[in-house]
Amino acid sequence: MSLSDCRGIPVSYGNPDAIKALEEAHLCTMTFFGDPISMITKTLEEHPDFVMGHCFKAAWLTQTLETRIYRRMLSSLEAAEALWDKANERERGHIKAVRAWVDGDFFAAVQHWEAVLTRYPLDLLALQLVHLADVLLGDVVGQRDCVARVFALWDEDMPGYEFVLGFYSFGLEENSDYLQAEEMGRLSLAIRPDNPYAVHSVSHVMEMQGRQAGGISFMRERAPSWSRSHFANHLWWHLSLFHLDVGQVDRVLDIYDNNLRTQNQTADKYEELDAAALLWRLKLLGVDVGDRWTSLADKWEPSAEDTLYAFNDVHAMMTFVSDGRTEAAQRLLNANERYIGHATDANVAMSREIGLPFCLALQDFEQENYGSCVDRLLAVRYMTHRLGGSHAQRDIIGWTLLEAALRARRFDLALALANERCALKKTSVQNWTYVARAHKGLGHVNRAARAEARALSLTTG
Ligand SMILES: [Fe+2]
Repeated sequence: MSLSDCRGIPVSYGNPDAIKALEEAHLCTMTFFGDPISMITKTLEEHPDFVMGHCFKAAWLTQTLETRIYRRMLSSLEAAEALWDKANERERGHIKAVRAWVDGDFFAAVQHWEAVLTRYPLDLLALQLVHLADVLLGDVVGQRDCVARVFALWDEDMPGYEFVLGFYSFGLEENSDYLQAEEMGRLSLAIRPDNPYAVHSVSHVMEMQGRQAGGISFMRERAPSWSRSHFANHLWWHLSLFHLDVGQVDRVLDIYDNNLRTQNQTADKYEELDAAALLWRLKLLGVDVGDRWTSLADKWEPSAEDTLYAFNDVHAMMTFVSDGRTEAAQRLLNANERYIGHATDANVAMSREIGLPFCLALQDFEQENYGSCVDRLLAVRYMTHRLGGSHAQRDIIGWTLLEAALRARRFDLALALANERCALKKTSVQNWTYVARAHKGLGHVNRAARAEARALSLTTG
C-alpha cells in the first residue's frame, strides 16, 4: 500500500504513523527546533524499510559539511539504496541526489533534487535542499529561482507555506530585491511569528539597506523566540553586525561573550564560523579582543586539514593566523594545495578560485604584507560568491581588502573602495570612517573632516 504525505506527495511506505513522524522531523529542520536526526533515527528503528525516512536523514546530513557526520550520511544513503526496488520515482530522485553529493558532485546533487522538485513542486524537502545547497554553493540566482519556479503552485492553506515564503524571502534578498524580500519575510512571520529563517532574511534586508536602528529593534523584540532556536548563534551574529555598524563595539563584545555559543564543545562549524567572522571584523577595526581567539582556534584546529568546504577553511584560517598558530595555518595551506592538485569534487573549484587565495591573503594581513594581501583580494573580489554563504558574510573579504589597502598606504585605492561601500550603505559609521582615513592619507584635510563629521553624526552610544 502506498500513501501520500500531507502535501499529497506519494510515499512508497504504507505506514501513516511513519509518514507523520517524518513530517515532524522535517518540521524541526524548518523551525530550527528539536533534533530531526534523532527523531527520524527513532522512527527508522521501528520502520527500517521506510525509504523516504532514510532519504530524509541522509539528505539532511549533507547540509553539515563536516567529517564527523560522513559515516552516518553514508550509512543512511546505503540503507536507502538497499531499498531501491521498493522506492518510488520521487524517492529514487532523492537517493540519486545524495549519492551524487557523497561522491563529491554537489552540483549534480542539486540537479537531482531540482528534477524531483520539477516533477513534484510541492515537495518541500526537495525545495529546501535545493535552496540551502544553492546558499552553500554560492548559486545566488538559484537561491531565488528555485522558489520562483514553484511558488505559484503553493497557497496559504498548504502545510509549510510559511517556510516557502521564508526561502523566497532570502533568495530575493540575496538578489537585491529588498522590497519583495521583506514583504515575503514578513508574510511568513505573520503566519509563524517565530520562523527563524524569516527573521533571518528580514535582518539581511535591513543589513544590506543599512537600517541599523530598525534592525536592532526588530531582532531584539523577537529575540525571546529566535534565541531558543538552533539558528540563534547566526542571528546573534546578525544583531552584532548592526551594533558594529553604528560603532557600538561594547555591545558587540557583549553579544560575543554571552550569546555566541563557542564555549559549547558540541557546537557545529556554523557557530564557530560566526564567531571567527565577528572577531575578524573587530580585528580590522583594531579592537583588542583579548584571548578570545585562543579558545576559538582550539575548536578549529582539529579540522585544519579537512578541505571539505572552502568557506569553513577561510574561517579556520582567520583563527590560526590571529592566534599565532603558524603551524596550523601552514597545515591548512598545505592540505589545500594537495587537495586542489588531486581531488575532483565540487569544492575544489571553490577552494582554488577563492578559498586558497583568501587564506593566503589572511596570512599576508597578519604578517603585515598588506600590499600582497590587496593584490590577492583585488583579483578575486567579484568572484567571491563562489565561496558560498551570503553577501553579508562575504563582505568580510571586501572589508579586509579595504583595511589592507589603507595599511599598504594605497590611499587612492582605499578611497575608491571606501566610496563604493558608502554608496552601497550610507548609514555605516565604519564606511565613513574609512572614507575619512583614505582622504587623510591623500592629504585631503577638509574632505577627511567632512567624512569624520558624518561618521560621528551616525555614531550611536
Ligand atoms: Fe545570515
